[in-house]
Amino acid sequence: MTELGLTGKGALVAGAGQGIGRATALLLAGAGAKVACMDVDAERRDAVVAELTGLGAEAVAVEGDLLVRADVDAAVAATVAAFGGLDVAVDIVGVARWNPVLELTDEDWDQSFDLVLRHLFFLSQAAGRVMVEQGTKARAASQSGTTGGAITSIASVSGLFAAPFHAAYGAAKAGLVSLTKTLAVELAPHGIRVNAVAPGAVRTPRVLERLSLEREAESSKSIPLGRMAEPDDIAKVALFLCSDLASYVTGQTVVADGGASVKFPLSLGG
Ligand SMILES: NC(=O)c1ccc[n+]([C@@H]2O[C@H](COP(=O)([O-])OP(=O)(O)OC[C@H]3O[C@@H](n4cnc5c(N)ncnc54)[C@H](O)[C@@H]3O)[C@@H](O)[C@H]2O)c1
Repeated sequence: MTELGLTGKGALVAGAGQGIGRATALLLAGAGAKVACMDVDAERRDAVVAELTGLGAEAVAVEGDLLVRADVDAAVAATVAAFGGLDVAVDIVGVARWNPVLELTDEDWDQSFDLVLRHLFFLSQAAGRVMVEQGTKARAASQSGTTGGAITSIASVSGLFAAPFHAAYGAAKAGLVSLTKTLAVELAPHGIRVNAVAPGAVRTPRVLERLSLEREAESSKSIPLGRMAEPDDIAKVALFLCSDLASYVTGQTVVADGGASVKFPLSLGG
């Protein structure tokens, strides 16, 4: 049997309450990890924890707002207290706003960077410090096996390609891609891998609230695989990046968009 290396590992999923976060928490738990779920929406978060424990997984709810550094530090400490360590940290949070670039206000710009990027800086520092210390202790005790850990976040194709009305969101996601590379290189000596997934369009509850069936059918025509992603499609890539299957992968942003971004937009053939 292929081993994902996640059995008994402590994981923190920020933004676990719905969509890609819930799907990632479920997959990590299914792979044997103990999962701490953080979400500003306590009702959603607790429902996911109940779902995980109902499936026989070890899961806890952690309080807090990922945009507040003290909350992030406390969430990491709570995960370590609950599970005895932190091996996997996943940052799902990121709120997309659509604004024509000429109408974008200074506030919109600043808020996008807070909603998309600032919290990855918070979480990577808090989780990275714990993971470095764990690795140092494991080496001092000459424990074999993987030291360090894995930090994974969610980018977007809007951070890699031009996406109309996503000037601020796209620039912040591009910053997330850059931060992922720098973190990966700085933390590699400690055995910590840092990666991101860049989804195209995903059928998350937030997106489905504002998407008509006609619009979805129209959008799906431009996707080679013929459909928008389900949250699970993205969570599977996050699981891979958090697992030992990705033991030699770091600093990468893996695009999961059904082939949309590699398709030449004009049809020149018959
Ligand atoms: N849905 C898409 O089509 C799509 C496409 C590309 C990228 N993404 C990215 O995927 C990620 C998840 O998107 P989604 O659509 O599943 O989001 P979502 O809004 O449906 O879910 C995110 C979860 O995070 C929680 N959350 C929000 N702010 C928080 C905070 N400050 N602290 C803690 N929890 C908080 C929310 O309550 C929610 O449960 C985002 O980073 C988004 O930019 C989504």
